Amino acid sequence: MRFNRRGVAMLATLVSVLACSPADEPTPTAAGQSAVDRRAGAPGIGDPDFPRDGNGGYDVSHYDLAVDYTPATKRLDGVTTIRASATQELSSFNLDLTGLDVREVAVDNAPATFTRQSDELTVRPARAIADGAPFTVRVAYSGLPRPASDNANLGTYGFIPTPDGAFVASEPNGSKTWFPNNDHPADKATFDFAITVPAGVTALANGEPAGQPTTSGGRTTYRWRERHPMATYLATATVGKFDLRRGSTAAGIPNLAAADPKFKSSLDSLYTLSGQITDHWATVFGPYPFSSTGGVVDDYSAGYALENQTKPLYGGFQPDETIIAHELAHQWFGNSLTIRRWKDLWLNEGFATYAEWLWAEHKGRKTAEATFKELLNRPATDPMWAYPPGRAKPDDLFNQSVYTRGGMTLHALRRAVGDPTFFTLLKAWAAEHRYGHVTTEQFVALAERLSGKDLDALFDAWLHQPRKPA
Ligand code: ARG
Ligand code: ZN
Repeated sequence: MRFNRRGVAMLATLVSVLACSPADEPTPTAAGQSAVDRRAGAPGIGDPDFPRDGNGGYDVSHYDLAVDYTPATKRLDGVTTIRASATQELSSFNLDLTGLDVREVAVDNAPATFTRQSDELTVRPARAIADGAPFTVRVAYSGLPRPASDNANLGTYGFIPTPDGAFVASEPNGSKTWFPNNDHPADKATFDFAITVPAGVTALANGEPAGQPTTSGGRTTYRWRERHPMATYLATATVGKFDLRRGSTAAGIPNLAAADPKFKSSLDSLYTLSGQITDHWATVFGPYPFSSTGGVVDDYSAGYALENQTKPLYGGFQPDETIIAHELAHQWFGNSLTIRRWKDLWLNEGFATYAEWLWAEHKGRKTAEATFKELLNRPATDPMWAYPPGRAKPDDLFNQSVYTRGGMTLHALRRAVGDPTFFTLLKAWAAEHRYGHVTTEQFVALAERLSGKDLDALFDAWLHQPRKPA
């Protein structure tokens, strides 16, 4: 809603009428708020598939996370300071946070009251925040973080305690298991981390070290900074015993590989492959978007890897070239270019899967055309054809079709427009939306503009129809 809400709250008798007016937005009201206060920020950012994810009424520019974690007790003490600006007048606003005890909330350094209801923390500043005003909110909290495992198809994700630390991989909405935030990719921000752990334990977050670790009283604080915008699900504070290898890629990008001692033998190949693949993708997709690359192998069998910004995290296995190619392609597609709505997930997973095929092609092992043809041989009854990847379903978000048929969509496009246009398009897509947000419609429009072709039928058949394309 964009009209001025001032005075609406007083007109109590008109509220029910207004609530039914066609101009009204169907967003739910904030937890614990009466429906009368139009200045309450919405408890969801507006993604119809995930109505309670993220929040409305403000835009975060920076997170400053101080996290103190003790693996032996699994206790986390945190202070999160958020810089944001209001996109409406705000008498209250929400943050996403699961479990954990909130001790204190301050807005612009003044104490604020707060309430909790399921995953929503509602903050009521002493004075309403004006539309457009910048503000800071500081939340002090602590407790035993518990990962998310509510949705059958997502496995366990978020902050996952391990015997020697924590495995932190939060896609799609698990960052609220370890810090209060606006937990939806539509709101990206820069991050500073200060992670304090027992001496001898390593803490790995996104971006680059901000100074040397400091130790006092048997505890070490690791500081990291991600200076490029990042979706909350890509934030990590992975803690444990790690062997490290540091250096830079042949093209000069700082490279950090880390492996749990159990995967010590994977460290060198992770380091070398991550460097080679990052450099190669820069020649295919355009300049690497971030200030360092690398990867982390932890001894936790997640059953997946996650493309955590600058430091993909591999869950309990030695990553091979294919999966490293996948996770590093996400640094362009998913991390630099970020989806605004989860339904567009193929823009992440279809691209990263296609990158696997491009890597095999580059290595002379198998052409993308051969991979495509093989998959196209799957019978019309294969479940992939019943799941249109262009509209990922919230209860089956990471369905294989989003990956495989998403990748096939790109190859069908490559066939239709030819290699020169296709590879120009990949670079133009990454360049035009660097550090920004993207939708499927924008990709189709760019493909049509660069090729001069009407591609609606192609994209409709590949992305939207519940059947095998002709
Ligand atoms: N984006 C990850 C990948 O493609 C998958 C993340 C799955 N998330 C989850 N909670 N299972 O490698
Ligand atoms: Zn992926």
